[in-house]
Amino acid sequence: MENIMPFVKSLDGLVDFSQKSLLISACAIAFNPLFWNIVARREYRTKFLTRLFGGHAQAACYALAFTIFSLGLLRDFLYERALRHQPSHPLLEGDLATMAGYALLACGNILVISSTWQLGITGTFLGDYFGILMDSMVTGFPFNITNAPMYYGSTMSFLGTALLYGKPAGILVTAEVLVVYLIAIQFENPFTAGIYAKRERERAAAGGKKKVEGKKEL
Ligand SMILES: *[C@@H]1O[C@H](CO)[C@@H](O)[C@H](O)[C@H]1NC(C)=O
Repeated sequence: MENIMPFVKSLDGLVDFSQKSLLISACAIAFNPLFWNIVARREYRTKFLTRLFGGHAQAACYALAFTIFSLGLLRDFLYERALRHQPSHPLLEGDLATMAGYALLACGNILVISSTWQLGITGTFLGDYFGILMDSMVTGFPFNITNAPMYYGSTMSFLGTALLYGKPAGILVTAEVLVVYLIAIQFENPFTAGIYAKRERERAAAGGKKKVEGKKEL
């Protein structure tokens, strides 16, 4: 806390902390990954969503995908509303900042869209927690440049938007986005790896069984 107070003070004038919209935006950003991780892990353990959809894992996953996507739109809307309530800074209002903003938005969207294209809807939106696994690991672009193109792409879009609006508060919120996603990656990647490792073990066991059965026939 002693460390954070001088930091907040140094932002005085750059960021208007009295705006409620800023806090609401910050909460929405933290809430979304929390929401999908809690729901997805519960689905993995109990299959409650699949059961809700009459045993159709695919339909359940699409419903969760639609919900996560909608929450993302709401979060983006709340972010832009928060930015409009914040002071601008001359350093961020020049052509250079605007061009950097567009470039970041373009790169961020390329990462997010190409990653969704590669993984498909269920691959993007936690299908593995529903037992819908990819046949093999995707290694092509954008996964050959980053292991989390979705998260880094989204972070770039947040920063790009901050620059387009010329708002220092947007840069602060982008830092929050990055931290939230870095935590999410730490939390999600080992779990996903575990799900796939389990499948490999089961495949190996099934393969071994087949071999034994084959031997019996000889
Ligand atoms: C990633 O893959 C794309 C398309 O296959 C390719 O053009 C690009 O050079 C690769 N990048 C790296 C860093 O390997």
